[in-house]
Amino acid sequence: MAKSNFDINKLLSQMTLEEKVGQLIQLNSMFIGETTADITGPKEQLGVSDSMLAKIGSTLNFHSFAEVKALQDGHMEKDRLGIPLLFMMDVIHGYRTIFPIPLALGASFDPELVKDCTRMAAKEASAGGIHVTFTPMVDYVRDARWGRVMETCGEDPLVNSVMGAAQVEAFQGDDISDPENIATCVKHFAAYGGAEAGRDYNTVELSERLLRECYFPAYKACLDAGANMVMPSFNSLNGVPSIANKWLIQDVLKGEWGFDGIIISDYNAIGELLKHGIAQNAKDAALMAFENGCDIDMMSAGYCSSLCQLVEEGKVSEKKIDEAVLKVLELKRELGLFEDPYHGGSTEKEEALCLCPEHRAIALRAAEECAVLLKNNGTLPFSKDIKNIAIIGPFADSNAIKGFWACNGLDKECVSVAEGVKNLLPDAKITVAAGCSAEWNVCDKDGFAEAVEAARNADAVILCLGEPQNYSGEGNSRADLGLPGEQMALAREVLAVNKNAAAVLFNGRPLVLTELDEIAPAILDMFFPGSEGGNAAARLLFGEANPSGKVTMSFPKSVGQCPIYYNHPSTGRPKARPENVHQPYASSYIGCGNKALYPFGHGLSYSDFSYESLELDTDRMSADSEINVRVTVKNNGDRAGKEVVQLYMRDLCASAVRPVQSLIAFKKVDIGAGETVTVDFTITEEMLRFYNFRCEFISEPGDFEVSAGYADNLILTKKFTLE
Ligand code: NOJ
Repeated sequence: MAKSNFDINKLLSQMTLEEKVGQLIQLNSMFIGETTADITGPKEQLGVSDSMLAKIGSTLNFHSFAEVKALQDGHMEKDRLGIPLLFMMDVIHGYRTIFPIPLALGASFDPELVKDCTRMAAKEASAGGIHVTFTPMVDYVRDARWGRVMETCGEDPLVNSVMGAAQVEAFQGDDISDPENIATCVKHFAAYGGAEAGRDYNTVELSERLLRECYFPAYKACLDAGANMVMPSFNSLNGVPSIANKWLIQDVLKGEWGFDGIIISDYNAIGELLKHGIAQNAKDAALMAFENGCDIDMMSAGYCSSLCQLVEEGKVSEKKIDEAVLKVLELKRELGLFEDPYHGGSTEKEEALCLCPEHRAIALRAAEECAVLLKNNGTLPFSKDIKNIAIIGPFADSNAIKGFWACNGLDKECVSVAEGVKNLLPDAKITVAAGCSAEWNVCDKDGFAEAVEAARNADAVILCLGEPQNYSGEGNSRADLGLPGEQMALAREVLAVNKNAAAVLFNGRPLVLTELDEIAPAILDMFFPGSEGGNAAARLLFGEANPSGKVTMSFPKSVGQCPIYYNHPSTGRPKARPENVHQPYASSYIGCGNKALYPFGHGLSYSDFSYESLELDTDRMSADSEINVRVTVKNNGDRAGKEVVQLYMRDLCASAVRPVQSLIAFKKVDIGAGETVTVDFTITEEMLRFYNFRCEFISEPGDFEVSAGYADNLILTKKFTLE
């Protein structure tokens, strides 16, 4: 599509103040369906007049192109200047064809796969009339209690940065006017994932060093990749809510990083300044947010009730309003909305693309590549010759496996495990028994007898456990990370009668699986795999696909270890005794080890990989030179597989305490049966930098270690020196 040369400055010159302010307001689509009704209920609470409703600039949340078109047509008729609305939505892991949740996508360690999934989402969403997605969500996380860890790629800044940038590139393409591309909004700036005790919306107190080292890089990487918008987070950061936080927005985001795109508040975040006790009233809140650079107010009473008045009173200059409005109009121009307010969307396209065979194939591949084989004593893969299979547990035949933030995806369009196994093995005898509920407050063992009987009579048992999909995502924090309800009791009884069994898990966060790990012969974690979940699980369980995912967030042994993360700083009293032995006066727990049950980077395969060598072309480097590292990995098994080769670094002595290990590079490689591959990495001086006590980003001469393997299990290590 040719770039639009629509004259937005001329348009601006024709706009009244109210029309300008309208562009800075975003309301839920349910508010704008009909504007002639009495202003009561939520509309009244927001202080939005009918006249303002007809002028708003953007809206969120709809279900189909037909709905978008009706809203756009209705709006353009009412808006005096016919300015099209921007349609925004959370396209987090698919629009209608749902691929695995981001926490699982991270586990693929494959940015190309992330791009393939994202391209599919961009095409479907754009066909459905969406112009902007509230993606990528790249909040850095360390605490599995927080429900929104499902939306992130986990506890490593590099993985988060790479995957976030991949999403921006894939959504936006080269040109967002192309009807197959949409604009992006990076969120939640900043450190929303640092919520104290993992409780959503909770306070965040973090040092500037930690923010810069771990929390900021992924947001920055997404902006470097060209993201159009930024959404500040709900939380207060070191005492000030992000939307009003001058240091965060003005000094860092706009000042240091030079971001001059649109800043949009999170849902009612401006209104919540009152609850935070930062603003006296909606007018105060609006002034605070606008002065701090927030261009669009999503769903609060702030801008719609007060911004015009603030200009009239001389508290906000109309010039500043113009600047914000121009940014919104510019995005509309870039999207080509003045020429085509539907951005190429249509019901025909939407129907043709959503859940089409090609998209289902991508969702299947993604669900396979994102699954992590947490444990296997050799039970998996099951033989496809098995004739009598029991599929047990609350997720045995559940299609509620798309996960939170699944946009327009529907449970009924997801394939359950039972359906997947039937698809793969149509001639096998399959017995399904739920056994119990997955809800935390349902303590009902009535289904146990049937489940145990089915397990006893089967040649193989697939035990499908997990947490309901609404136990993670926004507002869904947990204080207990075990399998909810009676699921562990069910597992004990079922696994006692049949050892040819594997547990298959559905979860939006790392769970505490310590007991399950002891009693289950194999555990395959599907997270929330999306539309093709059951087919992927079946193919993995029966060896049609080979697991290759690695967890990007540590699974604790006990919830008391939270926050637990692999890249923790060295302490002055590190524990030296074996993992299960407490060491008094060392940094250690009584009755629980320090390490994660499954640390970052852990994940098994049906292939048998060995790390043969780690070679450095030199063991000295300077700021101007590099070290080339070659890792050799062999597949000793009889099946081809994929291995994520991970390179870690440790700074042995520096002026600030450094992490015991940090991932500096990774590459996922295919290795044929019996084959050996070499993987090359380059260590540059920049990779060795850190923030010193003055928050300067520097490297210091000295000794370093570089290792291959995975967190807590570094297999090969070499030393080198930075001169
Ligand atoms: C609130 C969430 O925090 C944010 O991530 C999302 O984009 C908005 N709601 C809009 O749905």
